[in-house]
Amino acid sequence: MKIPAPLCRKLEKTARAAAKASYSPYSKFRVGAAVLTASGKIYSGTNVENASYGLCNCAERTAIFTAIAAGEKSVKAVAVYTPTKLAHAPCGSCRQVINEFGPTALIISVCNSSDRHEGPLSRLLPDAFGLRNLKSRR
Ligand code: THU
Repeated sequence: MKIPAPLCRKLEKTARAAAKASYSPYSKFRVGAAVLTASGKIYSGTNVENASYGLCNCAERTAIFTAIAAGEKSVKAVAVYTPTKLAHAPCGSCRQVINEFGPTALIISVCNSSDRHEGPLSRLLPDAFGLRNLKSRR
């Protein structure tokens, strides 16, 4: 699905704003994310860390879980903002979670410079494992 440029800019802005609420006392790496769903709504999220480091939740997953908890079924685009000079794509765990709800989603990465990445999830997670793989059991 082609997403109009103004909507992409709005998604990026929302991701950037979401980073302000980041709970990241350990990494001090404030990440923000925003998800565009099939209903046209935007949900945001930020990274939430824990003294038990392995329990840290990435911004992208917070945003997706928030959307799903609100009743959304499908993700059309995800924007992630990192407080860096270069733009960074979502981590592997987030790619897999995005695939669950938006295998054809557009992924946009923005940062503190004009650097940016934009492309389909399939470029970041080729040959993804999903429901169809479970269904291929015999
Ligand atoms: N982080 C995200 O929120 N998204 C990513 O895609 C990569 C990493 C967070 C997790 C942790 O709170 C901090 O960034 C440092 O890894």
